[in-house]
Order: sequence, then structure tokens, then C-alpha cells
Amino acid sequence: MCGIVGYVGFQEALPIIISGLEKLEYRGYDSAGVAVYGNGKVSVTRAIGKLGELKKLLNERSAEAGGSLGIGHTRWATHGKPSENNAHPHTAGRVSLIHNGIVENYVELREELEKEGSQFKSETDTEIAAHLVNKYLNKGLDPFDALKAACADIRGSYAFLAIDSQNPDRILVAKNSTPIIIGIGKNEMFVASDIPAVLPYTREVVILEDGDMADVRCDGVRIENNGKPVQRKVQTITWDPITAQKGGYKHYMLKEIHEQAQAVTDTFRGRVEQEEGAISLPELAFDDKELAGIQRIVFVACGTAWHACLVAKFYIESFTQIPCEVDYASEFRYRQAVFDKNTLVIAVSQSGETADTLAAIELAGTRSPTMAVCNVLGSSIARKVGNVLFTHAGPEISVASTKAFTTQLVAVYLLAIYLAQRRGTLAPEKVGELTHSLLHLPAAIQQAVEVNSAVEKVAQRFRGAKDFLYLGRGICYPIALEGALKLKEISYVHAEGYPAGEMKHGPIALIDENMPVVVLLQRSKELFEKTISNLREVEARGGKIIAVTDFEGSKELHALTQNVIEVPFVSDFLSPLIMTIPLQLLAYHIAVFNGTDVDLPRNLAKSVTVE
Ligand code: F6R
Repeated sequence: MCGIVGYVGFQEALPIIISGLEKLEYRGYDSAGVAVYGNGKVSVTRAIGKLGELKKLLNERSAEAGGSLGIGHTRWATHGKPSENNAHPHTAGRVSLIHNGIVENYVELREELEKEGSQFKSETDTEIAAHLVNKYLNKGLDPFDALKAACADIRGSYAFLAIDSQNPDRILVAKNSTPIIIGIGKNEMFVASDIPAVLPYTREVVILEDGDMADVRCDGVRIENNGKPVQRKVQTITWDPITAQKGGYKHYMLKEIHEQAQAVTDTFRGRVEQEEGAISLPELAFDDKELAGIQRIVFVACGTAWHACLVAKFYIESFTQIPCEVDYASEFRYRQAVFDKNTLVIAVSQSGETADTLAAIELAGTRSPTMAVCNVLGSSIARKVGNVLFTHAGPEISVASTKAFTTQLVAVYLLAIYLAQRRGTLAPEKVGELTHSLLHLPAAIQQAVEVNSAVEKVAQRFRGAKDFLYLGRGICYPIALEGALKLKEISYVHAEGYPAGEMKHGPIALIDENMPVVVLLQRSKELFEKTISNLREVEARGGKIIAVTDFEGSKELHALTQNVIEVPFVSDFLSPLIMTIPLQLLAYHIAVFNGTDVDLPRNLAKSVTVE
């Protein structure tokens, strides 16, 4: 996820671009850059770090001042570490280009372009797009057609903005699976990844659709889709600036819950070979000998990431038969943990900066091969380990983790299938089945998010409860833990997660009419029936049941409680991803009813960089 802004008109472009980028910093902030046309040429300035660093640099120079055409970018790295060279805009000949998205076939395109003489200055997937557009310009194509031709070569997701130094009155735009809007002014036009960037200047907005290409000039916009001219409706935005920043949602947490279908897609995009039914993770540089030598896997993490590791254990053991353990990072280093050259130690961390996880993986690296599953390129953990599998959740602003968790689950699922493929522990048909089920996940997550108003009603019914018990079995037990953690951290209500079968060994003593029991029921016949038996024990003691299930229309369950939240079924292994969504929403709504500061809960920090 990155933020992009463009301006063409009669005003000075630079202040408008910078103010737009300030509104979009929530989309990425590891580096930023601008390209502005003025005095007969395009000047590019880029800086690593937050936008403030770029502003400082721009204050020291004046090359960009005065021009009234420009583009700007705030980056969240996906390919290539955060650095000045990898920051956007990328330039090639006449072209300056910015990008939000992922070019899946960039390796092969880069090889072809290099053979043709292009010289690359960055490690990014984006730079190939600048070279492609320049190549087509050099063949005599109009800039709009050159971008079109480039997009025909590219596979992946993108919002591209390009300017051509020989046509300094146009911004060329292309969109596929990544948001882009055009703000309509009077003799001026604004382009951005999100509405807040243009709101100070105009409330008239066109939202582009997938496949749209736009030729934006100060006095009009030409839009084509599939080579044919199309009209897109001009919408009038009535949001106030703060609501706009949160995409119209009341809190970042709710916005991020709704972003999960996209974040999950971004995480498996380019890693699933649909035709072969296989997983491709070229970023992992394990050689065959190294892989064959792995006799044990140990995951280390904290909090929500630790819950993702508990699900990972199911994936690893089921697909690869490699024994797997999960340790709290804070515990791993304060005991005589056993690990050696045949143990692969994997850190899972959204931020890549959690002090305990960093220290644990540093210690592991003294004796074992290490890797990380991480959301932040260039973070301390990502730099410390041999191999990194990045989640592509984009920045998570709410302190309570939501989309980082579901993307971690996708990443460890990909990893487990990949290891199984390389070690030959699953039949190719099984690999194909597991791989293809991923493709159904985004739609199922989207449907699960739509239970929002049903969950809100349940939350209203139970808003006054002082304690909650969360129960799950098998692969959904970690989700019970995660649901309980979400409730604790944002609503300050006590909650505990338990394996459903363990209830009778202690927690059952707590159950009475004041104790809501949130239970996860997977469709799997054996576990469903066993969990129903556990619920009868709850019912017999007057406990109130809130059930989340991917088994539609179970009479037994509906007879036990009126609080049943049904979500779609994709596969047994992907159930945890979908079951998580109603639990995130339940915690969210109870917190809102309790009037807590949902996005910034008391005593918590987004990244725990101290022990
Ligand atoms: C809970 C939450 C925390 C983090 C934990 C690890 O919502 O966000 O429990 O999961 O602090 O953080 P990372 O993943 O950044 O290492």
C-alpha cells in the first residue's frame, strides 16, 4: 500500500502534492518523493523516511518550485528495501512514474528490458513500468498509448501515474485492483489514491474502475477501458476531513477490518501459480540441502502474531510432517531452549520491531537457520534473518491488530504448502487443492465482514458483561485466543480463550447466567458435534452462548442459542481466517458501546520496542 498524488492546473503543484501526501501518509511512510515539471524540465526529489524528510530536502532546494504539473508518492515498500534509490518517482528517459501495487512479472520484464539496453537504478518492481512506457514513447506512441502498451505487458495490481517531460500538460493514469480517484477542479485536476488528499481543493470526485486508463489535463479527463471511451460518474463527497481520513469509517480499526479481503489478496498475489496449482516463493533462498536438513521448526512471536504461529503449527505439521513448536519470544530466550542447525526458527512480527521477538531471533541465529514473516520491509527483524516472507497488509494504524493477523495466516499457509512442495510431502493434487482454495478466500472474507450489523446487535445484548469465555477446537482454538485478546485490549473487558474440550477441566466452574461464552464451531463433522456437546454443558449451567460457525443452518445450534453468526465455508484449513472476522467485529462493537478509545487503547503501543 502506498499513497499517490498528482496535480495538473494553474497553481503551484508542489504544495498541493505535499498536502495530499500528508493526508495519505497512513498508506505508507518509509520513503517519499515528488517529480514536478517547471522551467522546461522535470525535477525529481526523493528521501528515505517519513514525509518530513522529503519536506526538509525540498526546503533546501528550489528546483520544484513554480511548476504546475507534478506527481508525488509516499511509499510502503513491497519490492526493494526502503532507500532513496527505491523511492518513487522512478525515471526512464522522458518518463517519471509512481506506482501503488505489485508488478508480478517484473523479473522477466526486467530481464527483457535489460537485454534491450535499459539500465536500472533501483531494486523495485515499479521501475520496469517507467522503462516500458519510455520504450513505447521512443517508438513514437502518444504518452497515453505508451502507458496502455506498458500495462498490456504487465501482470499484477497497479495504480500508475506517469508524466512525460515532452508533454507537460498531462498526467497519464492506469488502474487495476488498486484504488485511484480523480478530483475535478476548475481548470485543474487532482489525482490520488484516496479522497482525503483532494478534499481541501474539490469535493467533485471520479472513482476509477479496474482496467480504466485516464488522460488527465487541466481542462478535462479522457477515460478508456479496454480501448473504448467510458464515462464515470462524478460524485460529490460530503464527508468531513476526519471521516474522510478513515475512509468514511468511525475508526481505523473498522476500516482495517474492511480492508482484509484486499490485504489477503495482496499477500498471495504473485505467489500462487494458478495453472500449475502450486505456490511460488522466489524470495526464499533455501537450497535443497538446507531444506532437507530441517528436522524441526520453532516459531517465536508475541501477542496476536503468536496466535498466528499457533495456526501455523497446524499447517506445518499437517502439510510437511515437520515437528513444530510455538514459543513466546519473551520466554524463548530466558530458558535453555533447544535449537540447532537442523531447527528452522521463524519469527512472526507485523512491525518487525518487537524487542522480544528481535532478541529471540538474534539468539536463534547463533545456532540455527532463521527466517521471518513480517509486514515491514527494512525493519530490524527483516534485516536480521536469512529469509523473509513479507505480508502485504500495508500500514496498520489501529493498535489492535486485524489485517496484519489475517495476512500472517495467509503467509504461513503459503509457507507450509511451499515447504511441502519442495520436500514432496503432499501429492501434487493436494497441493493444487490447497492452493486453489486460497482463491476463494477474499470473497468469503468480504462476506464475513458483511455480518457487521448482526454482530453489532449481539454486542448490544452483551455489552454489560464483565467476563467472557472464548472456546474453539483444533485449528480454531488459536482464534478463540485471538478473539479474547481483541476484546481485552480494546474494550477492557476480561476474556479468556480455551480449547473447548478443556472447559470441563476447570473453567466450567465460572459459568453462570452472567458469563457469555463465545464459541467457534467448524463445519468438520467430528469437531462440530463434540463442540455442540460442550455447549450443552454451558447451557445446563445457564451460560449465554454466542456462536460463530461456517456450518450453515444447523438446527442443533440454533436450538441452543439465538446468537448465531454464520460465515462462509472455504476449507477446513482456511476457516480460522474467516472465523476471526466476527470476533474482531464483536470486540470492536463492545468497545464502541463501552466508549473506549478504540484505535488507541489505554496502556498499549503499536510497536513494543522495549522488554
Ligand atoms: C494485538 C497486537 C499485539 C501485537 C504484538 C506483536 O492486537 O497488536 O499483541 O501482535 O505486540 O507485535 P508485532 O507483530 O509487531 O511483533
